Amino acid sequence: MSKRKPMMVGNWKMHKTWAETSVLAQAISNREKNTWEDTDVVICPAMCNLKAAWEVLEFDKSKIKIGAQNVHWADEGAYTGEVSVAMLQDVGAAYCIVGHSERRAYAAETNEDVNRKVKALLKGELTPIVCVGESEHIRNDGAYLDYVCKQVSAAFAGLEDNEVSKCVVAYEPLWAIGTGRTATPEEAQEVCAAIRNEISTEYGKDAAESIRVLYGGSVKPENVDGLMAQPDIDGGLVGGASLNADSFTQLVDATLK
Ligand code: PGA
Repeated sequence: MSKRKPMMVGNWKMHKTWAETSVLAQAISNREKNTWEDTDVVICPAMCNLKAAWEVLEFDKSKIKIGAQNVHWADEGAYTGEVSVAMLQDVGAAYCIVGHSERRAYAAETNEDVNRKVKALLKGELTPIVCVGESEHIRNDGAYLDYVCKQVSAAFAGLEDNEVSKCVVAYEPLWAIGTGRTATPEEAQEVCAAIRNEISTEYGKDAAESIRVLYGGSVKPENVDGLMAQPDIDGGLVGGASLNADSFTQLVDATLK
């Protein structure tokens, strides 16, 4: 049993309107139990609906936190379509996903962008959830541990040890995202352990012991227990199964077993 507080993060991606966001946030809030104090539960709706979720959770005095799916690193400026850390703070976000593979693929987000975003979020006291993961091609080539560790290293370049320990890393192999094909617990553990080892080498043992490493990619109630049983997996980053209050509740409960 690790000393780290477990986590379950719902990445709602580009799903749910304002009204639908309120309904799903309410359904999850209705299922919240006292035991959830021992895990960090985060939901990440679309940018324009963060406030809708926040209003529901605030009214319910819920411990569930809000996260964004992206941010810009600049404080403000001529960046059409972008949103700053201060704007996220203002609507009640406490976390922000950075470098999701879909953004790396469709919005050309680079390791350098991820690094700038991580720094901006830490400056604004939001917790970055940094996504890393290899494609099927890289896995088949066999160099996936090196590839993922390089992504981690680039994301945290220039940070102090105590800053790294506050962050969250989500290992999400691309071949497992939205495909229904989950990494086996052993496959996920191998990479999550390598990530922790990389942090230990670069930022010391304390940072490696404190940082939370999540697994993401087709996590569902049927496979979550095996993943959570792994020593280096502290929780999940979940897409599809987070869009349903019953399955998300089961996933949160699984972090507490
Ligand atoms: P999935 O998505 O659970 O639908 O595979 C995970 C993610 O992309 O964060």
